[in-house]
Amino acid sequence: MLEVKGLVKSFDGFLAVNRANLSVQEGEIVAVIGPNGAGKTTLFNLVAGQLIPNSGQIVFRGENIGGLSPHRICRMGIARSFQIENIFHRLTVFENVQVAVISYLEKSYRFFSPARKQGVHETLQILDEIGLSDKAGRVSGSLSHGDRKVLEIAIALGNYPKLLILDEPTAGLSPEETLSVIDLINKLSRELGLTILLCEHNMDLVFSVANRIMVMQHGASIFEGKPDEARKSPQVQEAYLGGSA
Ligand SMILES: Nc1ncnc2c1ncn2[C@@H]1O[C@H](COP(=O)(O)OP(=O)(O)OP(=O)(O)O)[C@@H](O)[C@H]1O
Ligand SMILES: [Mg+2]
Repeated sequence: MLEVKGLVKSFDGFLAVNRANLSVQEGEIVAVIGPNGAGKTTLFNLVAGQLIPNSGQIVFRGENIGGLSPHRICRMGIARSFQIENIFHRLTVFENVQVAVISYLEKSYRFFSPARKQGVHETLQILDEIGLSDKAGRVSGSLSHGDRKVLEIAIALGNYPKLLILDEPTAGLSPEETLSVIDLINKLSRELGLTILLCEHNMDLVFSVANRIMVMQHGASIFEGKPDEARKSPQVQEAYLGGSA
């Protein structure tokens, strides 16, 4: 589904992503791990179009998408959540998801109907799938940090992606909240058949959801393989844990 080859992004000569490779097959959950500053978010920004690569290829379902606008990439089927919160705090939970759904639907139909009535059914369905139905009317700013992280996933789902990219979906969450996000990710994969690419520092999450793991260090992909192989790899232990393992 996604093939990243020799991807490079430099900021004023500093190689944040340095000839990175990554492949994601349809239906997989792939986790990108690596120390702070390894280039994970930059890689996701390149794939989703927030940044333009210096060189290398990003092929999504047979098309080279490197350098396309985020909007075009989103319409091709890639949606993402951000490491830094990206919701409208004054809107309700329902409205936050509805905004995404409307922007998805608008281009295809219902162009002249009032916004408030658009995408109601679709929005309710997403909130139901994600487990936020009972909080639909709450002002988003009043939600717990955990519910806001889940809301961000719901907003991404409003774009009806084929590939869902999650940048640290459990950052700052309690152990219980983390467990419910793990369940949610597994459910989205199983029930909606979504392909998921995520990065995380929480190894409990990584090892309980990922089919495959890619390890980044200094912008480069230094390992791609099954979680078991990653655990055993001396190279990964050295890079990720500084040799202490
Ligand atoms: N817009 C930018 N301008 C300059 N340098 C940047 C920019 N974005 C990222 N960097 C640098 O690129 C490197 C990779 O950053 P990135 O945010 O991709 O790392 P990360 O793996 O997501 O880290 P973390 O786990 O802390 O989120 C870092 O050294 C960072 O300071
Ligand atoms: Mg990051």
